[in-house]
This record gives sequence, structure tokens and C-alpha cells, in this order.
Amino acid sequence: MEQRVSSRVRQIAPSATLSVDTRTKALIQEGKPVINMSVGEPDFDTPTAAGFAGIKAITDGNTRYTAAAGTMELRQAIARKLMVENGLQYKPEQIVVSSGAKHSLFNIMLAICDPGDEVILPAPYWVSYPEQIRVAGAVPVIVDCSEEAGYKLRPEQLEAAISQRTKAVILNSPNNPTGAVYSEAELRALGDVLLRHDIYVITDEIYERLVYGVRHVSLPAICPDLMPRTLVVNGFSKAFCMTGWRLGYVAAPPDVAKAMVSLQSHATGSPSTISQAAGVVALDSFDPHMVEEFQRRRDRLLAGLAQIPGIRCVKPEGAFYAFPDIGDLLGSSFAGTTIENAGQFCELLLEHALVSTVPGDAFGAPRNIRLSYAISFEQVELALERIGGFVRQLRRP
Ligand SMILES: Cc1ncc(COP(=O)(O)O)c(C=O)c1O
Repeated sequence: MEQRVSSRVRQIAPSATLSVDTRTKALIQEGKPVINMSVGEPDFDTPTAAGFAGIKAITDGNTRYTAAAGTMELRQAIARKLMVENGLQYKPEQIVVSSGAKHSLFNIMLAICDPGDEVILPAPYWVSYPEQIRVAGAVPVIVDCSEEAGYKLRPEQLEAAISQRTKAVILNSPNNPTGAVYSEAELRALGDVLLRHDIYVITDEIYERLVYGVRHVSLPAICPDLMPRTLVVNGFSKAFCMTGWRLGYVAAPPDVAKAMVSLQSHATGSPSTISQAAGVVALDSFDPHMVEEFQRRRDRLLAGLAQIPGIRCVKPEGAFYAFPDIGDLLGSSFAGTTIENAGQFCELLLEHALVSTVPGDAFGAPRNIRLSYAISFEQVELALERIGGFVRQLRRP
């Protein structure tokens, strides 16, 4: 056998966050008081009522397969939510529930892309998008969004990136890793470009509830003419602290929804029945206090980072990440080691200051690092002390 694994998987990069994660866990195991700012999940609990709904599903014997697209009860509840909260009119038949939004996105790529198709991906981007696009045989066309533009895609960049082979563009607002939130005017401007080109728009809105002093707007709500080719992705992981329940969904045009259901019926079958029962209740159980607390931490983190020389950070308006540019510190040395890239910066910060962060390379931004503030306020303060202490020990070239 010449190749033991397929060319499909050979082209996927192993998760760049994995080595940080493995080392973080090893240090914690050794008893080191690491502050873990590499986490991508809220540090709050699943709403109690949703948890009990899951337990009730088990004790009631509600434990068998559901329809591949998800239960009608959950799809109806999601359709209601999309109408009331986002101003989007979908029939339950257009909703496909999957085992996490990551799974929904994977289904989308496989359902709409043919080999050689291009998918426009604004950078910085969430780590899984390019790999999912590649697995589907398509080509990620990465468009760098500048710090000056708040890491947001500008309409002229979108226009320039569209080619004969473009199948879709992915928009993610609020954004992981930058925390950028597109305003209504910014979305309208992108919508104007998209209306002139017959491509799909994938809008990943999984952080929609986590916005600080700004409003989340769903693109198809303000550009209804895009509805027939828009795929709205959302899930329960972030807003309802249900990462482990693995529940996400997509609202899609009927033909694409049908294709995804068919695909899913041969892959996972259906999403977890227990999680779906919990999801119905979760949709009515959002806790706004979580947003207040995230905002308090974000403000503290930003204020602290602003005091550290060599670190610049665009104000994140949503999600729970800060994505500072540490490019000015590259080329410095720490205890005789020259820091060549963000990965090395993160490694040294972890080993010597016990703060775990993720290098920006994984998100298509090699000058940045991602800090998650899904940790306590006190830990944010301690992390700032440690990062500041570490940076002050660096020797400039
Ligand atoms: C931008 C974005 N989309 C989708 C997901 C997938 O979330 P899940 O599969 O837990 O629903 C994540 C998770 O980190 C994310 O950050």
C-alpha cells in the first residue's frame, strides 16, 4: 500500500492549537497554576432547565433515533427563534439540526462544493473553515482583513476575490478570533456586492448573543433578496454553554437543506435525541448576566493590554476573545532565545509565565495571539500581571 491514508486527509493541517493544549494540560497535571486563555468555551453552566430537560428525556425513555434533520419540535422552536430574534422567516423543513455547528458547517461544505470550487474566507478566520473547505475538495481563497479595518472584510475586497469558480463566502460575526462585529451598514455594503454575484453566503452567527454595546444583525434580514442563497449557521455551544451537548443547526434554502439531510442521514444519522430535548428548553433560557460578566472581563483585559508595551489590540465587540498584535515583539529575545514567531511567543509565555494562549497562525494572522476571557475576572487580572511581567523581561534587538 503506497498511501495508508487518503489524499483528502493528507492535505489537512493538524490543529495548530493542539500542541498548546497538550502542553497546557501537561503543566496543569504537574500541578503548575496555568491560566488557560486558550479555551473556546464559556466558563458558565448549561441552563439548569435545559439540563433537566435532557435528564427528563432519558427517564421518559425519549432515547431513540429522531428524524435525520432533528425533531420537529426543535426545528419549530428554532424557526420561531429565527423569526423573533433575527427577523428571518424559515419553515421547519429548512432547518437542519446537527451534532454541533462545526458539523453543520461540514455538512454545508460537502453539500454545496465540488472539487475546484472556491470559497472566500476573510482572515482572521476560525481554524476549522479552511480545513473543512479542503476536505470538500474546494479551495479556500483567503482575503486578509487589516487591523485598520477592524479585521473586517471590505466590499471592494469581496468584489475583487470573486471569480468564475467562487461558490461561497463565509462571514462570521461576531468573529472568532477577533471579536469583530459587522454593523448593519457594513453588512449592507457587502450585501450590495453579493447581490450582483450568484454565490452562496454562509453566515456563522454562533456568537450572536455575546455582543457588548453593539447589535448583532443577520445579513439576510437586511438583504432579503439573498435569502435563497444564504445559509445561516448557529448553535447552542456559546449562547447556552452547551459545548459538550453537541448541538448546532443551519437554516438553508429548501434544496440545500434537503441535500444536507440526505448527507447527514448516512453519516451521523440524527443528532442526539437527549441534546435536542435540552435544546428546545435552552432556547428560552438565555442568561443575560453572562454577557455583562464577559463585558466586564473584556474591558479589564483591554485596559490591561493597553498598558503593556509592544502589544496592540483592536477592541473586540463580541465573542469572548481578544486578538492582540504582538508583531512588534517578534525578534526580541527571552533568556537567550530569540522569538521568531507568535508560536514561539506563546510557548515561552506558557513555560515561563504560565499563561496559555493560541498563536495567530492558526487563524491566518501570524502577528497575533488569541486570548480567551472565558475565565474568571480574577484570572484575567492575574494573567495581565504575568503577561506584562513576561513582556518586560524581553530584550529588544
Ligand atoms: C466561529 C465558530 N463557529 C462554529 C463553532 C463550532 O461550535 P460547535 O460545534 O461547538 O457548535 C465554533 C466553536 O468554537 C466557532 O468558534
